[in-house]
Amino acid sequence: MISIKNLKKIFQVSNEIIEIFKNLNLEIQSWEFVALIWPSGSGKSTFLNLLSGIDRNFEGVLEIEGKDISKLSEDQMTEFRGKNISYIFQNFKLVENLTVWENIDLIVELNKLERNFSTDEILKVVGLSSKKDVYAFHLSGGESQRVAIARAFVGKTSLLLADEPTGALDQKNKKIIMELILELHKKIKNTIVMITHDDEVAKLAEKIYKVGDGDIKEIK
Ligand SMILES: Nc1ncnc2c1ncn2[C@@H]1O[C@H](COP(=O)(O)OP(=O)(O)OP(=O)(O)O)[C@@H](O)[C@H]1O
Ligand SMILES: [Mg+2]
Repeated sequence: MISIKNLKKIFQVSNEIIEIFKNLNLEIQSWEFVALIWPSGSGKSTFLNLLSGIDRNFEGVLEIEGKDISKLSEDQMTEFRGKNISYIFQNFKLVENLTVWENIDLIVELNKLERNFSTDEILKVVGLSSKKDVYAFHLSGGESQRVAIARAFVGKTSLLLADEPTGALDQKNKKIIMELILELHKKIKNTIVMITHDDEVAKLAEKIYKVGDGDIKEIK
């Protein structure tokens, strides 16, 4: 379960204080697929950086799987993140000079995760078996995002954070990617927190919240 209480985030740039959000409250149950609809440019990536403990400069309470992440040391946070959290980034973030196969295998090996799939199995699921030896920099946007999805689902983690997973894709690829995420979620039953500005994309999730003007409303 994720428990967010009175979460507030500001950035200070020279003398100016920028308030990104204040007083966010939300509970997400384990194994739920939740979408947050959040306007562009207003704090989506910032929020996910807090949820993943990459940025721990916040006020309020943030608990993941019963752990208050502000209480962990840097090393404990890194370990916790590696074992528990997968990420689909806004702009794929593949390692360009590694192959498709290597990109998918890298994190699961690095963090010594148990596997949901072998690398070859997940390649088949995302339809990229024939591209496994291609370098990431040769891939199209849709292919890159399928690699990013394979990488996020291959290892056993309880929580998947997805930042605008379809933001860089055209209509056709958007649908393919969303259906893939949903199919894999049903198969392995992880918790997914997906942030998007796109109502169409959010519809596939089991629960939808709309974020705006400092509060969160449940709309499905
Ligand atoms: N490290 C930082 N220092 C200062 N301001 C920042 C920092 N990171 C983000 N911001 C500001 O916070 C606001 C929200 O940024 P963020 O990247 O979270 O938005 P987003 O919703 O993910 O945007 P997009 O839709 O473009 O992906 C922006 O105005 C940005 O300039
Ligand atoms: Mg962003």
